[in-house]
Amino acid sequence: MEQDNEADTLELYLKDQLPGTEMILFYTIFVNVPAIARSAKIMQTGEEEIVLNRVMSVSVDFPDKEFEMIELTGAWSRERAVKIRKLEHGTQSVYSMRGCSSHHYNPFLALKRRETTEGNGEVYGFSLVYSGNFLAQADVDTYDTTRITMGIHPDTFSWTLKKGESFQTPEAVLVYSDQGLNGMSQAYHTLYRSRLAKGYWRDKERPILINNWEATYFDFDEEKILSIVKTAKSLGVELFVLDDGWFGERNDDTRSLGDWYPNLEKLPDGITGIAKRVEAEGMKFGLWFEPEMVNKNSHLYREHPDWILGDKGRRLSHGRNQYVLDFSRDEVVDAIYGQMYKVLSEAPISYVKWDMNRSMSEVYSTGVGSGDQGKVFHRYILGVDRLYYMLTKAFPKILFESCASGGGRFDPGLLYYAPQCWTSDDTDAVERCKIQYGTSLVYPVSSMGSHVSAVPNHQLLRNSSLEMRANVAYFGTFGYELDPNRLTEEEKEEVKEQIGFMKKYRRLIQFGTFYRLVSPFEGNEMAWMVVSEDQRNAMVGYYRILQTVNGPYRKIRLQGLDPDKIYHVSRIEEDLYGDELLWYGLDVSDASSGENREEYNGRNGDYQSKLFLLRSIE
Ligand code: DGJ
Repeated sequence: MEQDNEADTLELYLKDQLPGTEMILFYTIFVNVPAIARSAKIMQTGEEEIVLNRVMSVSVDFPDKEFEMIELTGAWSRERAVKIRKLEHGTQSVYSMRGCSSHHYNPFLALKRRETTEGNGEVYGFSLVYSGNFLAQADVDTYDTTRITMGIHPDTFSWTLKKGESFQTPEAVLVYSDQGLNGMSQAYHTLYRSRLAKGYWRDKERPILINNWEATYFDFDEEKILSIVKTAKSLGVELFVLDDGWFGERNDDTRSLGDWYPNLEKLPDGITGIAKRVEAEGMKFGLWFEPEMVNKNSHLYREHPDWILGDKGRRLSHGRNQYVLDFSRDEVVDAIYGQMYKVLSEAPISYVKWDMNRSMSEVYSTGVGSGDQGKVFHRYILGVDRLYYMLTKAFPKILFESCASGGGRFDPGLLYYAPQCWTSDDTDAVERCKIQYGTSLVYPVSSMGSHVSAVPNHQLLRNSSLEMRANVAYFGTFGYELDPNRLTEEEKEEVKEQIGFMKKYRRLIQFGTFYRLVSPFEGNEMAWMVVSEDQRNAMVGYYRILQTVNGPYRKIRLQGLDPDKIYHVSRIEEDLYGDELLWYGLDVSDASSGENREEYNGRNGDYQSKLFLLRSIE
């Protein structure tokens, strides 16, 4: 629970006498987290108009340049890869000009010392609570001092302030850790999971869901959906999510975005009918929307062709056949809210997946004159924010999961309303090792949508065991992205066990302290672990990508345990002291966990994983 005295804010007032401009710099510090939240507000009190061309949320100078810069880079289906580079003279930056925080870079950077590791050493983190265009940069000057700036991207940004008007920047969250990258990440996890995120679901274990996207794509009807639901229910799944394709005449991606009423050919009794039937089966019902987009082939577009972003008479690009609704205009947001409100208020809906499937281009709003176009990108994000605000206010118990072609808008801005986010469209377990590892640099386990999908995997056709897929997906919100009717009886039994396992351990996984142990960006293996607050329970995940022949003994030093406690370690079934596990390590070699080579080679030796449960013995 929040306490009034857990944070305090210093406000510094500045005034530029000449134009009569005032500014407040906000610095919030926290009793239990090594973080500062920083933002600025600019107020025009003088008679003259001023134009803001660049208003960063933070600017910090360091007296030296002996740092490495960490950034999260990527693309669709390979989001948030960890990249580390030595700081050099000049400017190095990450940014987005796509209207969303993007798959390509995340609104985050960190400076670490060369010797800093996951568990030791100094690091400074910078994270922007914003979902739109951003710039984060490190500037090293000729005297070897380093300046970090971060905020709304100044390109195409321009904001006129008349007398009496003000502008508030998004917050940047600065973290310092002298306990390595894990120390930095844990500070972000604590703040973002339990203070930034809000609402009914914030502190609750997340429902185990099944989503029909990879099971059916657009090709479904009520009967097919209900057969998925029935089987999923028998396996222990708690929530069914109906993805894209339920509305208008949407049978492919060329039409109907913007028409948020049910396709009665697929669902004769509409969303209310299917939702009630899913509830009658004993499962909760969730629904997909893509509120910000429209297809030209839709009633909404035909009625309001001027509601999309773009200058009339100029060429307009589409992305996946869709155009971006002008969310900088209140009437557009209100109209979408009206449609969504109707669906959500008529049916028993417990969850909403809010998708967004294209970057923005040719951004121009016909709602304002040419002089105010510099406000449109930011106003758009404020429109997204307003729609989230209205929906979460009207439906406080609905769990929102954000999504943007997978992880194209995985940022703290949206975590405020949607405590979880679809981490990536890439559901392959091996790729997910990297994606979830990178994402965890800033974002808590409870925020990462992670599902077990079918093999061969739909993104890269890889086959990996059901066990490997679940062992990765457990470290997130957990669910399934497949047709359970296509599982063999043996696989169904395994899935039942997985769901039982997750139900038992999800509080530990989603709300425990998370530690990265071995980076998949540095070699053939990956390891991470979670530890309960009282240090009595822990879980270690170890993953090896390719099998090695006659491999070495492999010990992994754990973190976060009580050195004086004795832990029973499952799988190897041994009782070991905390300090032994911390400093000697956990032996994850095949031989030591009872897997003899013959048995091991009976299975595919690649893409192996092991989970170890640690329980302290009194
Ligand atoms: C992109 C999302 O990331 C997918 O999970 C799915 O919802 C599709 N969009 C549907 O169009």
